[in-house]
Amino acid sequence: MSHGNDSSPSQNEGLICDSDSGRTHLRPDWHHNALRLALALVLILQMKVLFAAPAVIRPGAVWLDDKGVEIQAHGGGVILWHGTYWWFGENRGKSLSPDKRYVTCYSSQDLVHWKYHGQVVALTDPDHIGPQWVLERPKVFPNGRTGKFVMYAHLDDGDYRLAKVAVLVSDRIDGQYHYVRSFRPLNKESRDIGQFIDDDGSAYLVFESRPTESFIIGKLSDDYLNVETLMSILHCQLEGDAVVHYKGLYYAMGSHLSGWDPNPDLYATSPSLSGPWSEFKDVAPPETKTYGSQSAMLLKVTGSKGSTVIFMGDFWNPSALWDSRYLWMPLEIGDGKLRLPAPHDWTIDMATGESALTK
Ligand code: DGJ
Repeated sequence: MSHGNDSSPSQNEGLICDSDSGRTHLRPDWHHNALRLALALVLILQMKVLFAAPAVIRPGAVWLDDKGVEIQAHGGGVILWHGTYWWFGENRGKSLSPDKRYVTCYSSQDLVHWKYHGQVVALTDPDHIGPQWVLERPKVFPNGRTGKFVMYAHLDDGDYRLAKVAVLVSDRIDGQYHYVRSFRPLNKESRDIGQFIDDDGSAYLVFESRPTESFIIGKLSDDYLNVETLMSILHCQLEGDAVVHYKGLYYAMGSHLSGWDPNPDLYATSPSLSGPWSEFKDVAPPETKTYGSQSAMLLKVTGSKGSTVIFMGDFWNPSALWDSRYLWMPLEIGDGKLRLPAPHDWTIDMATGESALTK
């Protein structure tokens, strides 16, 4: 054991015992070294953040979750809730029970890396519809008044004749969603559904209503359990319906009806959700058939320097639905015009809201 002037390191180096109080303090030199180390670590972390290559969104690529499994969130919806993005969609996985229909849930901070939260719906035919029953295009609305999370989904039979929505409710965003009931919103046939949450927080269901050849926007009731107010009927038969509010204009988008096959998506604009709506125009060169995809949602990401509006679409693969991929691209949008660029890898800066195609 060494004492006095011995400067060899010991386990207690840097500790001083105050004999009066019996308390132990850190020696100033040890303290300074620890501080320097902490500052160096902070600097390294900052450099990593500043110089890290931004994560890339790759349209059409296999998109893996944090478990290394292909993301199953088809016909999906993404919402921002308490600073985190949540993605819900159809799970078309290969090894699922044929009697049940599944919805998966993922969360992300950067829209690139997604954490799997499991099956939030694993439902058996709730209305005795029959073996081919359909639960598609789930969308979740967090209700600040009731504290509940309300999911809407298209509920149908194998021939798509039922044309209803199912409503499911959960106490947690990633909890189990329990089936509540099914109905035809505003007493109209409803097949593909979309969701729209406006900048003021008001929530709308968008749905395709076939007999009237319409794209309908309906406002949800205060508890979100009903579709209460008819906002607009756009007389154009479109599914894969989506709406976004960008710089004072509403943009409505949808695809024609061609089953799983792609077709040219269209959009219209209006200064108000109750219209009047412009004529419909192509979102991309029509011969590309929306680059082989179908719209599911328009997601606005806002940061310190502006907003990016993301086209979220599905590349359906009807012979292997589980392997349907995603086309997410930043839209060129503004002044009543909208254009879906050709698929290309891209990045988004979540802090500024800016996006860029990779070089
Ligand atoms: C097109 C719809 O957009 C999809 O959600 C799905 O219902 C297919 N039709 C089924 O053919």
